[in-house]
Amino acid sequence: MAIKEEKQVFLVGKDVINQLSIILKTALIHDPANIAVRTAIEKFIMLVNTLIETERTISLELIGEFFYINGVRIRYSLEYLLNFDFLVKEFKKREIGSILFKDIVKPQEIQVFLEAFIASGYSEDPYETMGKKIDALHTIKIDRLKKIGTGEETDVRKVIKKTYFNAVSYVKGVITKVRSGEKVNIRKAKRLVETVVDQLLDKEQVLLSMTAIKNYDDYTYHHSVNVSILSIALGQRLGLNRKALTELGLASLFHDLGKIEIPQDVLNKPTSFNEDEWKLIRKHPIWGVFAILKLRSFDATAIRSVIVTFEHHINIDFSGYPQVRKYKELDLYSKIVCLADQFDAMTSSRVYSRIPMSPDKALSVMMERSGVDLDPLLFKFFINMVGVFPIGTLVMLDTKELGLVYESNAVFTDRPRVLIIIDSKENKVRGPVVNLAEKDETGRYMRSIIKVLDLNKYKINLAEYLL
Ligand SMILES: [Fe+2]
Ligand SMILES: [Fe+2]
Repeated sequence: MAIKEEKQVFLVGKDVINQLSIILKTALIHDPANIAVRTAIEKFIMLVNTLIETERTISLELIGEFFYINGVRIRYSLEYLLNFDFLVKEFKKREIGSILFKDIVKPQEIQVFLEAFIASGYSEDPYETMGKKIDALHTIKIDRLKKIGTGEETDVRKVIKKTYFNAVSYVKGVITKVRSGEKVNIRKAKRLVETVVDQLLDKEQVLLSMTAIKNYDDYTYHHSVNVSILSIALGQRLGLNRKALTELGLASLFHDLGKIEIPQDVLNKPTSFNEDEWKLIRKHPIWGVFAILKLRSFDATAIRSVIVTFEHHINIDFSGYPQVRKYKELDLYSKIVCLADQFDAMTSSRVYSRIPMSPDKALSVMMERSGVDLDPLLFKFFINMVGVFPIGTLVMLDTKELGLVYESNAVFTDRPRVLIIIDSKENKVRGPVVNLAEKDETGRYMRSIIKVLDLNKYKINLAEYLL
């Protein structure tokens, strides 16, 4: 695709998707002949035909949680968030993976499409119903949502596991070198973060599952990588571009670099910190600023890293540390890293509190802080990203099975995919992975979560299951 065209897809793409969502929403509440529906269709046709004129055909594809138009990923933008989410949900409900516009479309054709779309929502086999109803249309075709097979899934996990551990060992190397005063290769960090950004674009859930494994030995290194992954994933949902995501990823990777100044025996203390130790801990953002300035040349990314490192514990109401007076608003990246940092720290066993919280408990603590010291809007995006039951949550099902949340479901946030680890006869098993959104012939859910259990009490090693 020529650059000019790609740019046009990029500019108009989000409006096309937004307007498609609007016509479907409007048609669901009004009669298709209604003026509101007709006006919405006209607007959609204008947008989509402009693109067809330059692109000839348009494929609008749903991959994971994101839409692609002719292969270009369309960014989430705040104002369109609800409409995008609605469309993802409706596509998934009907198992539609893509819509192909093969030529300039007319209003009557969109009408037929809309009627098919609405009717299929009530059907037992929505995809087939939809397909039949639009069969006579020559300009609009649909294709079924692709499911990732298990074989492919194992390979994906292998690749992502490699990226994750490369990043951890790199951070370990950086910290060791900084401690001994050696020179650090920052270019490598950039390449690493770029890999994470690329993999997050379509394998978000697998990368997020790596961050769920908390019982690693080297807390500090894993924490840095986890916060970086969570921050990039959140940034992506906010519509930051690749360059911005890389910058955010780097800043978050080094957010706790200042901890190198804190004696190891304090950091790794098995009991709670005393007041003197807390005084040391509270200095790590400022020490981090010095460490970063020593680390690298003074470019824009370094400045952003310095800001994030300095601000990541300040809180939006300035109630945190370091204490600041008459401070401007916190940087967007700092607010993102703050959320990622708190979530990872609370669910890990080695920092501040010796007892790790279950992921859903950590979210409810954060929910209380949301709007007080955490940014409420960003927190909404965060919950939408990790799900009500984040990956790694141990759940009891109404079938008496125990399982680990394996993949969140962005549409039905309380119905994730779960890896069964104890079957209904209390045997330790490994799988299957069940989808809680699945229903039986009578239309009832096959399995539902009845409660969340404490991972620590059951002495479950997450790494054993998620890696
Ligand atoms: Fe920190
Ligand atoms: Fe941290």
